[in-house]
Amino acid sequence: MNKDFLWGGAVAAHQVEGAWNIDGKGPNISDMMLVGGANKSRIITDNIISGAYYPNHEAIDFYHHYKEDIALFKEMGFQCFRTSISWARIFPKGDEKEPNEEGLKFYDNLFEEMLKNGIKPIITLSHFEMPFYLVKKYGGWRNRKLIDFFINFATVCFKRYHHQVKYWLTFNEINNQSNYNSEGSVFTNSGIIFNNDEDKEKVVYQASHYELVASAKAVKIAHEIDSSLMIGCMIAMTPIYPYSCNPDDMLKAIGSNHKRFWYTDVHVRGYYPGYMKKFFERKDFCLDIINEDLDILKKGTVDYIAFSYYMSFSVKGDGNIYLDYDESKDLCNNPYIQKSDWGWPIDAKGLRYTLNYLQDRYELPMFIVENGFGAYDTFENGIVHDQYRIAYLKAHIQQMKDAVEIDGVNLLGYTVWGCIDCVSFSTGEMQKRYGFIYVDKNNDGKGTLKRYKKDSFSWYQKVIETNGEIL
Ligand code: BG6
Repeated sequence: MNKDFLWGGAVAAHQVEGAWNIDGKGPNISDMMLVGGANKSRIITDNIISGAYYPNHEAIDFYHHYKEDIALFKEMGFQCFRTSISWARIFPKGDEKEPNEEGLKFYDNLFEEMLKNGIKPIITLSHFEMPFYLVKKYGGWRNRKLIDFFINFATVCFKRYHHQVKYWLTFNEINNQSNYNSEGSVFTNSGIIFNNDEDKEKVVYQASHYELVASAKAVKIAHEIDSSLMIGCMIAMTPIYPYSCNPDDMLKAIGSNHKRFWYTDVHVRGYYPGYMKKFFERKDFCLDIINEDLDILKKGTVDYIAFSYYMSFSVKGDGNIYLDYDESKDLCNNPYIQKSDWGWPIDAKGLRYTLNYLQDRYELPMFIVENGFGAYDTFENGIVHDQYRIAYLKAHIQQMKDAVEIDGVNLLGYTVWGCIDCVSFSTGEMQKRYGFIYVDKNNDGKGTLKRYKKDSFSWYQKVIETNGEIL
């Protein structure tokens, strides 16, 4: 890997910080979600139910432990660390004019601590953390007004932190909501709770459009504030393979990938691709897309593509000439790969495939900002032997290296997801663990919050020290 390649780890504010109602922070959307499980969706509550357990309220209390945690990251050799700025810490309700100074100070201190330890911040603006008030009062991203609220937030952040933070991401995994039948994905991406009888697909496309406009505006503003800033999009990259070389499977895979990745086309190229225009026409969606939006999309194309990679999917042709894709129904099993305890397909080669796919299509620098293995750990006397995690990461890093060293893709860095155990986004569990650092806390919220190094800690330390030579 080249000498500037950035190795590190990643989390999101709501999954680690806790301190959910401290120093002026308002409730965000993740604060309203109860704990779920491998086969149990997280319930979204309308108010905080007294006595109920909300895993993100305390999380791993990074808010009060960040110095200790950053010291551990430094010991592992991290050159960068990705987290997010919790929107509701800066704008507790979301529609205020002025930010909450206490919230801003927390990130002043956090970034300073990181930089003091030689760790570059990689910062996401919106990682499932919009103020819940915006959901209640405005209906989340179904409302065009959200663009202004987001831009106010983004501008405050760019102005305040541009000397400390060079790499930014706008919306985390903006394309999760392409699975429009998943209430959890639409709520966490867009703060939308569906009404009975509405066309969910249309609602999601409208919200997505507003987010893409907001993202493009943010890119433009960031560059006006400081032309050296690098602003990226962030895509959940789950390539969809054809089940076989049957031409029907091949075509279905093209249509399915269009539906998951059109977001990247707009972020990178600055306009809607032909297949989306035809799709909107056919569906007769009549979306609120004005000329000014199209202009801003052109002016705010991203500087790099950040993505998460955990798995690949597969589809079979089904005779639908339009190649329509409904993720809640259309995926099929890939017989060549195994799955995790949470049913996530494990496909290391898919990472090399992904890097090539994005490189061929866009020729922009890329950043792998999430990759990792959620697994049950056995903790005994302060020790966790997590060979399975090392094996997963080793296989993925090898594929990443092959993509860079053999295929010549342009990659800026790699951050392992959940480098310290944190609350699972999809299930709210603590025991779906990704970390190199074990945090003593269980699914029911009990534990001392003490941190311990797992076996993977020294393994990753060696990987970084040798710039990926020794895996
Ligand atoms: C991504 C998200 O979807 O995957 C993270 O950006 C999330 O927030 C990660 O934590 C892993 O998912 P989970 O559900 O296992 O925590």
